[in-house]
Amino acid sequence: MSSSPTDPRFVIEGATEEQQAAVDELVKQFLLTDSQLEAITKEFRRRMEEGLVADGKVLKMIPSYVTKRPKGTETGSYYAIDLGGTNLRLIRATLDGKGGVKTEHQKFTLTEEAKARTLFDFIAQCVETFLDDRNLRPTGQQPPISMGFTFSYPVQQTSINSGILVQWTKGLNVPGCVGRDVVRLLQDALLRLGLRVKISALVNDTVGTLLSSAYANPSSQMGIIFGTGTNAAYYEDVSNVAKWKGPNPASGEMVLNMEWGAFDSDDFAFLPFTPHDIKLDRKSINPRKQAYEKMISGMYLGEIARNIILWLADQRLLFDGRSSDILNAMWSIDTSYLSAAIIDESPTLSEIQQVIEKTMGVPRSTLVDRRILRAIAHLVGERAARLSSIGVVATLLKRPELLSKPIHIGIDGSMYEHFPNFECILAKTVSRFIPEHQFKNISFSLAKDGSGVGAAIIAMLMATED
Ligand code: BGC
Repeated sequence: MSSSPTDPRFVIEGATEEQQAAVDELVKQFLLTDSQLEAITKEFRRRMEEGLVADGKVLKMIPSYVTKRPKGTETGSYYAIDLGGTNLRLIRATLDGKGGVKTEHQKFTLTEEAKARTLFDFIAQCVETFLDDRNLRPTGQQPPISMGFTFSYPVQQTSINSGILVQWTKGLNVPGCVGRDVVRLLQDALLRLGLRVKISALVNDTVGTLLSSAYANPSSQMGIIFGTGTNAAYYEDVSNVAKWKGPNPASGEMVLNMEWGAFDSDDFAFLPFTPHDIKLDRKSINPRKQAYEKMISGMYLGEIARNIILWLADQRLLFDGRSSDILNAMWSIDTSYLSAAIIDESPTLSEIQQVIEKTMGVPRSTLVDRRILRAIAHLVGERAARLSSIGVVATLLKRPELLSKPIHIGIDGSMYEHFPNFECILAKTVSRFIPEHQFKNISFSLAKDGSGVGAAIIAMLMATED
């Protein structure tokens, strides 16, 4: 995909010279050439290697203590607690022994109080509701019920069921948790309610996605989330993990949680930062952190677009210089508006007009304004999808021996599932950096809700002898 400022997709019909010049500038900033991507991928690889040698590096490459693979023939019902960004899901996953899983889940929305203070007590109460609703609460004579716990934030694991929260990411920022063992916090809250529940596995959502994908497809090597945040996990040969001081697993391999959203956060030197990204970072709850995540994940793309819109409006190149209270407020532009703008192909761009006038609160828009808005949505989305390929390519090329046979990647998250063209641009970009005879062995698929199911599968693996 070669692009230049004259890319016909970004020639705005009816635009003034100044408007077109501003769009051309955005095109230059946002459309990345293959050689730019190649250079960033090289640095990403270097950072992966560095993270395998020592702790505290920008790519954390965290050992997950998951060393087994499901066979796909296991049966039974297993439980998991899945904490995402704003929701909590309690899950019962029933494995059918043929790679299929039936799930039953109950969803809870985090209350403001839970987000501000009482997160773990809130989770324990939800567990109680889930168990009581199904008559599953173990009595004093029964063994405790085992549950996997999916926790979608960076945790330095200290065992399969313990780990220290390194930092909050995305929107959550509950005080008093960083530096503490999140399983201890949950286990104590469960105890306060007298619930006989044992957290048998602490699981990052990417590790869960990988394991649920592996239950259905034994050639799965990698689990990725492209959602509100982004990250990936993959099976690594333990002999390649110099920093691993624990016992060698019988399988010789372990899933690593890469925490790739942090790439380039230490020196901001390789990713294509624009003033719009810098502005977002400065005002975020975690400045100078999660640099890669902030360019590619759903939580941030709307905000990048908002910064661009204001930059244009302030120069009177959009909306005749008008803004609105909504547009002036941080995070007011949801990434789903960009999706709506991309799919609007009506002659008057009527969907985009609705978004501008109803959702953004700007009273009037011209057709040129709407065309510019559509171009912004394309640019921000395309950059995200192209940059997403970097982590995938770097990880695949790390273990090229795996590419000589079928290899599967399970992916979940709203960007992958819903953002227009994301999946297709991602696959196409990956194909440009992996030789054709190897690329044909790679398959990608949506591992819908894999994070929770995977934690239940890991709880099952923990309960099973080798
Ligand atoms: C977190 C990761 C998580 C990813 C996807 C990131 O913000 O640091 O732990 O896997 O989001 O949910």
